[in-house]
Amino acid sequence: MKIITKCSEMADYSLDARARGGAVGLVPTMGALHDGHLSLLKTASRHCDNVVMSVFVNPAQFGPAEDFERYPRQLERDCEFVEAAGCDAVFAPSPQEIYPDNYSTYVNVENITGVLCGASRPGHFRGVATVVLKLFNIVMPQIAVFGAKDAQQVIVIKRVVEDLNLSVKIIAAPTVREPDGLAMSSRNAYLSANERAEAPLIHRALMSAKGLYDGGERGGRSIMDCVRSILNEGRLINPEYVEVVDTTLLKPLDSIVRPALLAVACRTAETGTRLIDNVVLGGDL
Ligand code: PAF
Repeated sequence: MKIITKCSEMADYSLDARARGGAVGLVPTMGALHDGHLSLLKTASRHCDNVVMSVFVNPAQFGPAEDFERYPRQLERDCEFVEAAGCDAVFAPSPQEIYPDNYSTYVNVENITGVLCGASRPGHFRGVATVVLKLFNIVMPQIAVFGAKDAQQVIVIKRVVEDLNLSVKIIAAPTVREPDGLAMSSRNAYLSANERAEAPLIHRALMSAKGLYDGGERGGRSIMDCVRSILNEGRLINPEYVEVVDTTLLKPLDSIVRPALLAVACRTAETGTRLIDNVVLGGDL
């Protein structure tokens, strides 16, 4: 497996792979890899011959009071982890390589980035859209795989691809869960033991709401109330938002007459860790 740190070398690698007739797939990550990332890799390798995983903790998507400094960085371990899974190359640039001096260009996606996670993380999706577009330009993948846990991120990136006429296919891979239902996330490592014990409540709440939907309930308010009432059983998992929105424009749905994203973000009481999860009712991302 090749480990590449320079944009020019990454582009040469992809051009070479494509010249040999191989499709290139990209799995963008910030490292601290877990089984959820492995599943993204596996999805990518089902669609293409050359799978590139990028590992870059993107400063542009963290707010000033967020966890950029303490975000886990473990490149050596990450490379060992994915080599065995059949990853062909890891692209791990430095911040200076991605944002050299005088860097001034950012991608601003309107309308869908100020709601849900964007409401409490101003600038987050500007940073995500910018780095993902840069990664697409550097790696030149035909497909890119993202985790469905970050549903708003998937929707924002699909918007960028459509609006800017990019020729990359975006695939949302299903969320991978711990045996007790907690969605895998690099940030789960921040949880205290008590928070970790309560965290599966989020998935349980989403599954109860999905049960209601499957039983015929179509009221957005009833679905959200169901999630909130189950989250209220916990002491340490405080909801930041519970929303039912449509899967394209992220507009609230009073009545679920088309596929709806039921999305939840919680803040834990002891360590202040932010956990997100979702389920799509009546469709896919
Ligand atoms: O989901 C992530 O890990 C990040 O937001 C991404 C897509 C790698 C961009 O930095």
